[in-house]
Amino acid sequence: MQKQETKLPIGVFDSGIGGISVLAELIKTLPYEEFVYYADALHAPYGNKPEDVVRSLSVNVAEFLALIGIKSLVVACNTATSVAINEIRKKYHFPVIGMEPALKPAVELGLTGKILVMATPLTLKSKKFTELAYHYRHRAEIVPVPCDGLVEIIERNHSWGQKVKEYLSHLFSPINKVGISAIVLGCTHYVLIKQEILHAIGDNITIIDGNCGTARHLRSVLQNKCLLNSAIAEKPHIPLKAQVRFYVSGAEREKRTTQCKQLLQHEGILCE
Ligand code: DGL
Repeated sequence: MQKQETKLPIGVFDSGIGGISVLAELIKTLPYEEFVYYADALHAPYGNKPEDVVRSLSVNVAEFLALIGIKSLVVACNTATSVAINEIRKKYHFPVIGMEPALKPAVELGLTGKILVMATPLTLKSKKFTELAYHYRHRAEIVPVPCDGLVEIIERNHSWGQKVKEYLSHLFSPINKVGISAIVLGCTHYVLIKQEILHAIGDNITIIDGNCGTARHLRSVLQNKCLLNSAIAEKPHIPLKAQVRFYVSGAEREKRTTQCKQLLQHEGILCE
């Protein structure tokens, strides 16, 4: 008989819709699991707020999800992870998975040239990122690229057209594109505009995010702790039908929930 706990959902949170890019990978990797997604839209963006404010917002969301009852938590936000993951881990007995800019896989590609790390100002100035960049300093030239204001554009504009294009062209114009080998997307929102970034920087540059790695890591943690939901045995159908409950803070909850579902649908995932 499987443990009662295995049937609990997995909690996932972000300041907004960025974490949906992570949730899509989680659903593809763990199609038999149920999920609860929390978008803290009322307080988005996190990335330009003081560290202690983001820490307390993140701890509050984790508390909300823990009270609902979850078997694991994915902090699908690099910014929240960079300042709050230790605090959250201390409070709960369930596994807490965080996200950090995928510098390790980028360095391990062994490409020659600079690695740009696009992330929020708070992520890039955090102690966690400073230590990560210090660790890899001899293996690559790491160039932090703070993207203040980009999350707001992605949150506000459903079809990321002209505004994103203008932002990116302005962002990349002072950067010498020669000698860039890879770009790390150190914010889950930026994964949603990967195509636009490729277009702005050039198709020959490798773009890396941590979403697949996070999903694989969660699967192995749940497996090791015997927490996988093995109740359903049939093969998942395509399109994937996912069990996700959405919670959105602030105004326009329905509109934002619909937007989350549409983003998942774009990835071939239907929500029941
Ligand atoms: N998706 C969040 C991240 O990964 C965005 C942070 C924000 O709200 O500024 O960093």
